[in-house]
Amino acid sequence: MYAIGIDLGTSSVKLLLVDVRGAILREAVRDYPLTFPQLGWAEQEPADWWNACLEGLKELLQGIDAKQVDSIGAGGQMHGLVILDENDAVIRPAILWNDGRTGEEVRYLNETVGREKLSELTANIAFAGFTAPKLLWLQKHEPESFARIRKIMLPKDFINYKLTGVHSCDYSDASGMLLLDVRQKCWSEEMLRLCGVTMDQMPTLYESYEVTGTVKPEIAAAFGLRDDVRVVAGAGDNAAAAVGTGVVDEGGCNISLGTSGTLFVSSKAFRVDPNNALHAFAHADGGFHLMGCMLSAASCNKWLCDNILGTEDYAAEQAGITDDMLGNNHVFFLPYLMGERSPINDVNARGTFTGITLYTARTDLVQAVLEGVAFAIRDSFEVAKSLGLPVGRSKLCGGGAKSPLWRKIFANVLGIPLEMVRTEQGPGYGAAMLAMVGSGVFESVQAASDALVEVSSVTEPDPALTARYEAQYQKYRKIYPALRDVFPALR
Ligand code: XUL
Repeated sequence: MYAIGIDLGTSSVKLLLVDVRGAILREAVRDYPLTFPQLGWAEQEPADWWNACLEGLKELLQGIDAKQVDSIGAGGQMHGLVILDENDAVIRPAILWNDGRTGEEVRYLNETVGREKLSELTANIAFAGFTAPKLLWLQKHEPESFARIRKIMLPKDFINYKLTGVHSCDYSDASGMLLLDVRQKCWSEEMLRLCGVTMDQMPTLYESYEVTGTVKPEIAAAFGLRDDVRVVAGAGDNAAAAVGTGVVDEGGCNISLGTSGTLFVSSKAFRVDPNNALHAFAHADGGFHLMGCMLSAASCNKWLCDNILGTEDYAAEQAGITDDMLGNNHVFFLPYLMGERSPINDVNARGTFTGITLYTARTDLVQAVLEGVAFAIRDSFEVAKSLGLPVGRSKLCGGGAKSPLWRKIFANVLGIPLEMVRTEQGPGYGAAMLAMVGSGVFESVQAASDALVEVSSVTEPDPALTARYEAQYQKYRKIYPALRDVFPALR
């Protein structure tokens, strides 16, 4: 029997065919466009996601006995606002997690409604990418679209809806809407009222591993699937990735180095950061987690290499960075290419290179970018440590984690061992694990994790290099506060 795991990312969808022993039999990837209609805005067409899923499914199942597929689970980019009208047609392009248009609405929520009140209602405060401020923005700037809303969804819920016809959402992803009472695991009536929406516009809530429905007959027929293939509610991509790396229950920490960069600490019990610098969200295993999210992580390296240096050979760019150069760079990079979420919450923040001289070489800039991303994750790591969270070691996943150099920089900037797991496909693999829990192959997410997740390599920090990076981090920390008041004038 097989499960299909879907990872609905920001640049592409990745689908995995996984057997019940956890082996990945097939993988299919399909890209789709990401548009930036204005500086700091980010949108995608839900129809592009769905078409990419259909094409990916076709490739995934080519030559396979599709009747062996028992369940499907999806993990997806969080916070994106997808709105459907009375015919379940998409009203406008989705506004994504890294969209910064809602500065004014975030100020209204945090300052007028008040952080304390938001935290009491939802366990979180407002950040620009969250869904609630986007609803307020839409109400003000596109009232006709707002008036037509019959259902509000998150990106992977749209895929689940297309598969099953059911409007569902899981608690981990719902947590990032700022509409969920995370502690009580229910929609907050007061938050809905503040955003001008009603309970019947919200999808039904489930645990990530709960079955919400079966594939529609026409989908089953199109792919030769059984018509009782179960679809689980799935999870936000970070919760799904944490499941995929075995960070469940009191299982410690996962760092994801994808388009975004996240530090995710799993917890059985509900916890909240008293300063709300880290998000307090539900986890896909039925528990909770705290998470810091930076908006541009591996995408900083991609931007520098693809757009500026004109190469897609990232390994070749990194090959010139020798051991003696680590911890000694005179160039520093602030990775705020899309503004920043955690922990500074500043839509106006921008990327910078600082310290360039006549001696600066191309490799110094590449190194500064890799280091700047690690320093920015260290900012969230410091918050986690100050809350007494268990971050003495961490799993590492995502595209950026494939670089041995970047892993070494991260291990030494954070001063902790970093573990890679055998199956690197974090969210897609975690989503397949959730599907297997839903179909009864495993009795819990913890049991699936115990059976399927295996550490394959560890990057240990080196005390001398950690000390050099400590000194570098202390310099890095001074740069943003010095520029904070300059950024708004650059807009
Ligand atoms: C998490 C977040 C990002 C997206 C990326 O809060 O916004 O990690 O989920 O897909």
